[in-house]
Formats: sequence, C-alpha cells, structure tokens
Amino acid sequence: MSGRIVVVGSSNTDMIIQCERIPRPGETVLGGRFSMAAGGKGANQAVAAARAGGQVTFVARVGDDLFGENAIAGFRRDGIDVTHVLKTPDAASGIALIMVDRGGENSIAVASGANGLLTPDDVEAAEPPLAGAACALAQLEVPIDTVQRAMELAFRKGVRTILNPAPARELPDALLETVGILTPNESEAELLTGLPVRDETEAARVAARLAERGPRTILITLGARGVYVHDPEWSGTVPGFPVEAVDTTAAGDVFNGALAAALSEGKSLRDAVRFGCAAAAISVTRLGAQPSAPTRPEIEEFLAARAEK
Ligand code: RIB
Repeated sequence: MSGRIVVVGSSNTDMIIQCERIPRPGETVLGGRFSMAAGGKGANQAVAAARAGGQVTFVARVGDDLFGENAIAGFRRDGIDVTHVLKTPDAASGIALIMVDRGGENSIAVASGANGLLTPDDVEAAEPPLAGAACALAQLEVPIDTVQRAMELAFRKGVRTILNPAPARELPDALLETVGILTPNESEAELLTGLPVRDETEAARVAARLAERGPRTILITLGARGVYVHDPEWSGTVPGFPVEAVDTTAAGDVFNGALAAALSEGKSLRDAVRFGCAAAAISVTRLGAQPSAPTRPEIEEFLAARAEK
C-alpha cells in the first residue's frame, strides 16, 4: 500500500506545433502540425505519479473556463483527488505555446493565468492531506511563496519533500532548507550554482555544492544519459534508457512523478530513480505532455524487457 503524494503546482493547456526546426527570432517556419494537449509541470507530475501507481492529491488553480474544466475532468479520469484544484473567477487557465523540432527538442512560452494566483493560503487549506502524505512534490511554475509554504508545511510534519526547480530560477536558502530531494536538470543545476555540468565529475561537484544548501539528496537529470545521484547512502549515475525521441516535452515531469510514486510505496532511492528513468524514456517516444505519461503496467513491461540478465 503506497502513501499519498501531494503535488502543488501548475496546470496548463499546451498548444503544440511540431515543425522541422524551431524558428529564430523574426523568422517564420511553415509546414508544422498542430495539436492541443493537457500540460503544466505540476499537472504533468501529478498525472505521471497517478499513472505510475501513486495515490495523488493535486493542489492547483485553473481559470473558470473550458480549459480548466477539461483539465479537471482529465485529473478525475486519472483518479487524482481534485478537492484542492480551485477554479479562479476572472482568470484564464494557464496556456503554453510549445514548438517541437524534428529531433524532439522543444521551446516553450507560458501565459501563467490562474497558476500565478495560487497562494500560500491555498496550500494551508490543503494541510490535512499534506501533513499525512508520504511525499510532497512541487515545481516553480506557481509563485515562490506558495512553493515555500508547501515545502515548509510538509517538512515540518516529517513528510518527504521533493522540489523540481523548473523552470530555472534562483532559490532562497530558506526554501532549500526544507527540501529533501532536489531534482534539477543540467541547466537548472548550473543556474543554481554558477558551475557547469558537462560530465560526471562536474555533476558530482555541483550536486555536493547544492547539498550544502540543505537538501539531503540531489538528483541531476542528464536527459538520455540518466540521472546523477548524490545521497549520503550512494552517489553515482543511474543510466538512462536509449530510445528514439519524438518529443522530450515533460520528460522531466514524468521522471519526477514516477519517482514520487516509487518512493511513496517504499522503493529504494536507486530503484525509484531507475523506475523514473524508464517512465521518462517511454514518455519521450510519444507526443505531448500528459498524453505521453505511461501507466504502471507499461513501465513494468519496459523494465522487464531491459532487466539485467
Ligand atoms: O514541462 C513541460 C511543461 O512545461 C509543458 O506541459 C508546459 O505546459 C510547460 O508548463
């Protein structure tokens, strides 16, 4: 039986254009293909955790519009508790414009809308599920005070806190002191430390620097190369799984959601990271954020086919 995961964060609708290449400023690239899909870093992580087998409560704000209604309906279909997904009068739901090139790389602009109105009081209202959770998971697409309140509240109750510091920005020490597991990618780790991450030696140095600011565990996601783990019990790289990438959007979100699901059911850190890497690898073979998040049986089948012989 796994413990509850409380995800605090954003919900967007993604407007996606797959194109040959991402236009430079001032340039128009013709011939793309359009699609629309549910997204937002918080929502993607909540959905990924639920599909990976977690019991999830999501704390978020959507606008009082059709996008928000569709988002909530999607969370319900994935079995997510939406008691704390609030409709916000006079605000639009979050929208992301995403361009995906032929190699699966993306470029994203977000109009935050209601996500920017998620307050520390909204988090306080979710104290009962947060205080009893196995895991609290947040990212940085909602106001930083709100993220800080969520991490503080969970940390004070002895709940394992995971912060995915995306999109990249500086973080106050007071916030980092309440984070148990920090999961930056290479560029976020670089922004937080001023040091590059080009190989395992540099990843080890950067992770140690980040750990000095509070988190016990640092997981630097390295894309297809896997994840560098810095933890008092074990440090090293958990390798990724080579796959043909169609769209890397939300690969980090799927990793974080699946990681939280695995940890909340008691898997070891290393097994949980491998499980998260498998979920992320599957997700990059599919288009879209939430549509790409795999189910538990899909992750298990993927791992079984790659079990060390
Ligand atoms: O991490 C991917 C997400 O970033 C997209 O779904 C988009 O909504 C932006 O928030």
